[in-house]
Amino acid sequence: MVPQQAAGIRLAFPDVGEEELAEIAAVLETGQLTMGPKVEEFETLLAAAAGTQHAAAVSSGTAALHLAVLALGIGEGDEVLVPAYTFPATANVVALAGGRPVLVDVDPVAMNIDPEDAARRVTARTKAVLAVHLFGRPARLEELPDVPVLEDAAGALGAAHRDRPCGSLGLLACFSFHPRKIVTTGEGGAVTTDDPLLDERMRSLRHHGWSPSSAYDDMPVPAFNYRLSDVLAALGIPQLRRLDELLAARARIAAGYAERLAHLDVVLPAADPGDRHGWQAYVVQVDRRDEVMAALRAQGIGCQIGTYALHRLGAYGDQGPFPGADAAFERALALPLHGRLTDGELDRVADALDKLVSHH
Ligand SMILES: Cc1ncc(COP(=O)(O)O)c(C=O)c1O
Repeated sequence: MVPQQAAGIRLAFPDVGEEELAEIAAVLETGQLTMGPKVEEFETLLAAAAGTQHAAAVSSGTAALHLAVLALGIGEGDEVLVPAYTFPATANVVALAGGRPVLVDVDPVAMNIDPEDAARRVTARTKAVLAVHLFGRPARLEELPDVPVLEDAAGALGAAHRDRPCGSLGLLACFSFHPRKIVTTGEGGAVTTDDPLLDERMRSLRHHGWSPSSAYDDMPVPAFNYRLSDVLAALGIPQLRRLDELLAARARIAAGYAERLAHLDVVLPAADPGDRHGWQAYVVQVDRRDEVMAALRAQGIGCQIGTYALHRLGAYGDQGPFPGADAAFERALALPLHGRLTDGELDRVADALDKLVSHH
């Protein structure tokens, strides 16, 4: 008899189904696939979840970051502080706006921006800090130097810092709805803010520069088509409606891992006391990460590095040493995290790790 191969365990699986299909079908029936009412409905639900007055949907998290940086007028000669350990888009948008992303080291355990290192890197040219709530863990924004704060909340929908939702803490905040995020539109993003003028600037910049308040007869600035289609907004609407449920499902998986891995030499992710983690990813830290990752994959367990140390990329290789980002980059390991994971699958991941890392 051929031995049965255990089915693989996926790293991520978007929580979409019948409700999403029905919403999309309804859009197709109207014949209006973009610039229709679904984007507005999506934006209203998102603003409520993020605790802001406004939300402007765009075509990706990267587009959201790009527009946020442009809306603040960042350009030639301006510096923006960004963490050295993040998805590269966080820094790319600053560079593409003509500014200089100034890398700041991260706390090697929390993996978020280190406020003390940020303070050391402020100059007369510093225009903003682009702080990331990495993997859904809220960053300590109140400890950052006194410059305008933009949130890269790409993975922090549903997270909260000191009882305030991530996305409502900075001047502007950017979300991503990529399929590895808690709410997905396939590709998509949004910028949230309480400032009506900044929101209007977003709406203009995502739509070629047409001014929303001047009934399309003027284009004060040249800009992009970064719109989100109604088809994709419709996909996200049912997920936003059940965001609490989606968060609870992920928190249950995180608690399941924490219980099963407590005896191992593995740094487990957690939010600061009183904060709510958004659980975009469940990222542990281990010694010999590459070896552990390869062994898990060989057993059909989907896993991935955390994210990137920017100073180790060609684009940002000239900014000196970042020991916190190095440690995070070398040790971070994302484990399977999605609502379909069963207790049996969590046991399988934990048993595999038990044999790969030492106990304490
Ligand atoms: C921290 C962070 N910033 C920005 C992005 C970019 O988002 P998108 O993939 O939607 O462009 C991501 C997505 O992976 C991210 O994790």
